[in-house]
Amino acid sequence: MATAGVRGHHGCEAERACLVEKLNRSSLPRLRRVVEHIANSPNIWFSSVRFDLSDRYCSRLRRDDDHEVWLICWDLGQDTLLHDHGGSGGAFAVAQGGLIEDFGSLHQPELRTRRHLAGSSVAFGTDYVHNLVNVGIQPTVSIHAYSPPLRRMNFYCWLPTGMHQLRSIPCDTPEPVP
Ligand SMILES: [Fe+2]
Repeated sequence: MATAGVRGHHGCEAERACLVEKLNRSSLPRLRRVVEHIANSPNIWFSSVRFDLSDRYCSRLRRDDDHEVWLICWDLGQDTLLHDHGGSGGAFAVAQGGLIEDFGSLHQPELRTRRHLAGSSVAFGTDYVHNLVNVGIQPTVSIHAYSPPLRRMNFYCWLPTGMHQLRSIPCDTPEPVP
């Protein structure tokens, strides 16, 4: 298991571009296997589960230069708002409960909706946009991987005229503070 320490925000852009290229070639299936394995291994995350009525609760499970893995706990009705991952790709798996996802691409003028129950997993590329929400009747736990590790998230709104960017937030967690 990779557990290297957190790097600063001034990493080499060429190195990041190299990681994105590597991600596009081969890493997405591996990231999906990582989140599926961890979601199916509650001994890894169960002691970190917290539910907070005001915000989703996030806890980093691992990080290295290539990727990071987060536990996210969703109380009823909590959502992410529509966002991309600032050039990172990734994967997520639902470990407990369920999530509704609106999803699409930065390059397509439409969103689709699907439901993920416990056991579901998804891998996504660098152009992926989505909004995840817990509309179920039980708290939800999910496992998320990002490669390269998150450095920025862009948030959008969806209108009849299409997708409009609202703000771009530097971050090192999937729960950035605007
Ligand atoms: Fe996301």
